[in-house]
Amino acid sequence: MPASPTATPEHIKDVNTRYHDAAAEEYDAKWGIDFGDIGQRQVRLKLVKALGGLDGRRFGDALEIGSGTGYFSLNLVQLGVIEHLTATDISPGMLRRLAATAATLDLDGITTVATEAEELPFADESFDLVFGHAVLHHIPDLDRAFAEFKRVLRPGGMIAFAGEPSRHGDRLAALPKRAGLLVAPAWRRLIGARRRAVPEAEQSGGHALEGEVDVHAFAPADLRKLLRDGGFEDRRVGGEELLSNAWGWGLRAVESSAEPESVSLRWRRFAFRSYIALQKVDTGLLEPRLPAELFYNLLVSGRKPAA
Ligand SMILES: C[S@@+](CC[C@H](N)C(=O)[O-])C[C@H]1O[C@@H](n2cnc3c(N)ncnc32)[C@H](O)[C@@H]1O
Repeated sequence: MPASPTATPEHIKDVNTRYHDAAAEEYDAKWGIDFGDIGQRQVRLKLVKALGGLDGRRFGDALEIGSGTGYFSLNLVQLGVIEHLTATDISPGMLRRLAATAATLDLDGITTVATEAEELPFADESFDLVFGHAVLHHIPDLDRAFAEFKRVLRPGGMIAFAGEPSRHGDRLAALPKRAGLLVAPAWRRLIGARRRAVPEAEQSGGHALEGEVDVHAFAPADLRKLLRDGGFEDRRVGGEELLSNAWGWGLRAVESSAEPESVSLRWRRFAFRSYIALQKVDTGLLEPRLPAELFYNLLVSGRKPAA
């Protein structure tokens, strides 16, 4: 459910800060975020799709917007795609988790800065890449944010964002979620899992705010317009994940109905492998052939013109 159309930008940003601060500690477990080979492979694939290829490219100074606990950026640092990372987020709680994970992974060269996307506290032309995952849909004034992304980029620098909900996908996601909840009792009996005592949505203090944090779901044309109006060239907008995402939402719905430690490893392996198999069908067969608007997630990239 999106934020109310009458919500002010200040209210939306305040709710995002409080909701994500409250969610930070459980965020990685809730979304199955991985900082090993699996996470790195997933993130690399997203960046390749957003940019239309990577070809061994490395970015010296990279700025992440809405970095959360570091799913996108810490995996890219580990892959060597990014040398110096500045991770930003409106939620200081998320950044504290990111810094803790970076320390556990023994990663150097990482700076965290709590800031909102519409007003960045960085000098003009400071970065080679401005990027993010699942963040644009939370930002009230995207024209202003894109102007900031361009200002802080060096001439010839790139922006790349992935994981943005498409309007179509957002509506479609309700179906597998509902189906998952419907079959959850039978699924728990089948695999011998225990019913969750406290519903997942109520486990973090911020659950009451969940319906107010999203501001946009995009049509590809909305993102193309942002790039064009923002003065970016080499503009790309694509879609990803159809079958895998529908299956993934269904899996999340059934799994969230059970106590996590009562879900067997065998099931988790099956769930993961089936998701990856469907992702391969999406990537190899559907994404190159179907229009972007049909997919759950949109990816976008562009280049700041060289001086
Ligand atoms: C859905 S989470 C994604 C986090 C991370 N990128 C990931 O993929 O796991 C969205 C993140 O955007 C941040 N955020 C929300 N509104 C923001 C804004 N106006 N400026 C900067 N960050 C914002 C939230 O605090 C949260 O960490």
